[in-house]
This record gives sequence, structure tokens and C-alpha cells, in this order.
Amino acid sequence: MAGEQETSMKSYGLWIGGRRQEPASGQYFETDNPYTGQTWARIARGGATDVESAVEAARHAQSTWSALKPSERARALLRMAELIESHSEPLAALEVRDNGKLYAEMLPQVRMTADWFRYYGGLADKTEGAVIPTGRPNMFTFTRHEPLGIVALITPWNSPLLLLTHKLATALAAGNAAIIKPSEFTSAATLEFAELFEAAGFPAGLVNVVTGFGNEAGAALVSHPAIAKVAFTGSELAGQKINEAAARSFKQVALELGGKSPNIVFADAEFEAAVMGAIAGIFAASGQTCIAGSRLLLQRSIHDRFVERLVEVAGKARIGDPMDPGTHVGPVATQPQYEKILKYIEIARSEGARCVLGGEPYTGPGASGGRFISPTIFTGVHNQMRIAREEVFGPVLAVIPFDSEDEAYQIANDTPYGLAAGVWTADIGRALRASERLQAGTVWINTYRIGGPSTPFGGYKHSGIGREGGREALTEWQQTKTVWICGKPDTKDPFVMRGS
Ligand code: NAI
Ligand code: MG
Repeated sequence: MAGEQETSMKSYGLWIGGRRQEPASGQYFETDNPYTGQTWARIARGGATDVESAVEAARHAQSTWSALKPSERARALLRMAELIESHSEPLAALEVRDNGKLYAEMLPQVRMTADWFRYYGGLADKTEGAVIPTGRPNMFTFTRHEPLGIVALITPWNSPLLLLTHKLATALAAGNAAIIKPSEFTSAATLEFAELFEAAGFPAGLVNVVTGFGNEAGAALVSHPAIAKVAFTGSELAGQKINEAAARSFKQVALELGGKSPNIVFADAEFEAAVMGAIAGIFAASGQTCIAGSRLLLQRSIHDRFVERLVEVAGKARIGDPMDPGTHVGPVATQPQYEKILKYIEIARSEGARCVLGGEPYTGPGASGGRFISPTIFTGVHNQMRIAREEVFGPVLAVIPFDSEDEAYQIANDTPYGLAAGVWTADIGRALRASERLQAGTVWINTYRIGGPSTPFGGYKHSGIGREGGREALTEWQQTKTVWICGKPDTKDPFVMRGS
């Protein structure tokens, strides 16, 4: 359990073909517990040779898997949902140990992954093509949706199992095999998760995990010719590199990148609900979420009163052990991330923003040896400041005032990103206008940070390509074949176009 002395080092190999394997490099790297700061496990350093073995295993498994009756594939996904539920507590504890997020957040997240498997299990036997009228005589035309084959899933450290499942449940339901490259900071839970698939009835080798670094195992996957699609969640920079590399072998790409999401509060909003929504948007998960409401846009008439209440509530957040159910704010997951957040706090100060809460590492009661940053609020932020334009990915809120509704949308949309937006208002007309005017893949009205398997999720602009969740996402993991059958061959004159 997090918080206890790390007594014995665990060691994780690769997971290929349904077996634990040594990496070809023979090398391992260490992962730490963000709460104690102590190293607790070593992880295999995979590379190109290991990717090659994973591709081989996936190829065999995929042909078995796609030949199964759709109802059998559905049953395996539904059994997986049950297995996740029965293993949710140890899996959630493992995530906390590796990335420091609150157990109170990770347990429901792991349970939500079960819902994703259940949702796509329900769709796995409902893939239907269409019979298409073409107006050509004697011609019968229909479509088939076929799997892509082998897909690569590259995941980050903030919500390892949930962000993996956004891709994996859909990819498997669509008939594909997967090779996963989890974040080098949080590989353990993904490895233990992958070991559950065989018991659920999936062929060995359908789900493989090649751990390692982005520029080694990750890059080898992205350039491998047998991989049909790469789905990635993480930084804009890595997303760009992956997109470029994948283009060389014409792979499909799905990218879920960052955000600088506006959370907009109008003067008519239910005040207390909006305060809590603003806090949930940025301080839950210590701000380490792609959907963080990191820009709080406040209508000027309520600005001062709102900030005052925000500081009062956020200032009382209990910081400490992520396993303790009484904790509100846990540690920062990685050392580079911790340094990045502190750098942005300095940048905000140097740009002239006013720090009204936090603004420093937290070393008070409950901090143990962990990497903590106090919930931080900057007012007097202008939308052109770096603190308003760049993703911090930490508990740092930038407060920007506005006057009119038009100005709110103008500021909200003046960003390279477009992942999510929140709006707090009692005016139904304004709620509808906001849902049209905001350039974001998700718009929350009088709520924030909610989602699930049945709703499409993804970004506008630099926030990404493609959608996860919902029925349509299934087709993003398939390719469509059109079949023309001629009932009365009419190729007498080969030089004219048929049926025109
Ligand atoms: P990252 O984007 O570098 O890494 C994410 C994953 O991509 C990891 O598994 C990594 O090994 C892999 N990767 C990196 N470069 C690659 C390459 N060239 N080819 C193939 N795979 C590659 O994220 P990192 O460094 O862990 O976090 C940096 C920033 O990313 C954070 O400060 C935050 O702003 C953003 N981020 C966004 C997330 C989101 O949910 N959209 C999640 C985590 C981080
Ligand atoms: Mg770790």
C-alpha cells in the first residue's frame, strides 16, 4: 500500500503471446511511487526486437479472434468486464502506487473500464454492413466492416487503465489484436490488467504489452509495417511525432492530446455549484487530466466574490496520502511533471499574474516524501499569457474576467486546443448558444468532468484526431469494403464504363 515503506522490489517482464518475457535488451528501468518518492518496481526495457515478437504473436491471435462467432467475441468482452470488477481493488491500488492519484478516483475509474468492456461487448455482435442502392441494373451492392488487423495503443501515466480501455475495448470488439506501450512512468497496472484477458476467453497473444521508452519501444511500434493503426493519448509534441512517423507507412492515427479548457461562469449561474465545478475542473486529480478546466472565465460582476469563495474552499483541500479516503489532493505523478508545473508557476508570476492561493510545493502535514504542489490560483490573467495558452497539467488555475457573452466565447475559442469546455448559466438559451459556439469536442453545461463509454470523446484543433466512445467509434477500428455483385454479366464492350 502507498505510504508504507517499500520493502521488496517487484520486477515486471514484457507480456507477449500470453507469457511474461525478458526483454531482448536484458535491461530494466525503475518506476517510483509518487507519494513516497521511493522506487518500488523494475520494468522491462523493450525495443524493436520485442515489438517484432509481439507482432508475430498478435498476427496469430488476430486470425483466431476474427474467425470467432461475433457472439463469442461479445461474450469474452462481457467476461472481461466481470473480471475487471472482481480485480478492481488491487488494480486501483496498483495504479495509485505507480501514479499517485487518489484511490477514491482510481477505484471508480477502474470500475468504469468494466462499463466500457460491457458497452463494446454489447456492440461486438452488432456490426452490420449495408445494402446500398446504386441504380445500376442487375447489380447487388453491399458493405462489410472488417477489422484493421494489429493496432498499437500508446498510453500516458495519468489514468493508465481507463485511457487504455477507451481504445482497447473498442479495438477488440472490432476484431483487432493489440500491442500496448504504456507510459514508462506507470506500466505495472497495464501488465497485470493484460494478464486477465486469457481467463476471459481471449486468445493468447491478442493483447500484448511491450513496456519501455517512447523513442524506443514506442517508435518501433509506430514504424512497424504490420501495424495498421496507432492510437495515442499524451502530449501534443509526442502526438505530432507519432503522426509524422505513422504517415510514412500510411497508418491510421487517433490522437487524444492536451487541452486548455475554458470553464465559463456567467453571473446568472447557480453560484455554489459553479464554485464546486470550477474546483473539480482543476484540482481533482491534481489537475493532471487532459480535460482540466484550467482557464476559469468569470463574468466581471461576480469575479471578486467568486474568487474569494474559490480560495476559501480550495484553500481547505486536504493534501496527502492518496490511499486515504479523506485526502482531496494527491501528489504529482512524475518528477519531470513536478518540475514543469513549478516552472509554469514561475512563468505566470513573471508574466504579471497575481497568485492568490498556493504557488509553491506543499511540504506540510501528510506530505511524506512525495512530490506535492499546493492548489494554485492566478488572477489577473490575460488570454495571451503563456499560463493561459499552454497546458500545465497540474493544480494551477488561471482566472480570466470577461464582460459580455460574445467576449466569453471569443476568449474561450482563442486557443490552439479544443478538447472540452464548461458553461455555468441558468439561461437555457445561452446554454444552447454556448453549445454551438464553443469549439470543443465536449461541452458541459452546469457540470464538469463527466463521461462514459456511450458518448464520443475527442478534440477539436490541436487537441486531437478521432473520437473514442459511442457506437461510431467502433467503425474507426474497422475498414469498410464495398462488394459489387453482378447478376447478369455485361462486359461485352470492355471500353465503356459499366452501368453508366
Ligand atoms: P508523452 O506524450 O511524452 O508520453 C505519452 C506516451 O507516449 C508514453 O507512453 C510515451 O512513452 C509515448 N511516447 C513519447 N514519445 C513517443 C514517440 N516519439 N513515439 C512513440 N511513443 C512515444 O507524455 P509525458 O512526457 O509523459 O507527459 C508530458 C506532457 O504530456 C504532460 O505534461 C501533459 O501536458 C501531457 N499529457 C497529456 C495527457 C492527456 O491525457 N492528453 C496525458 C499525459 C500527459
Ligand atoms: Mg511510477
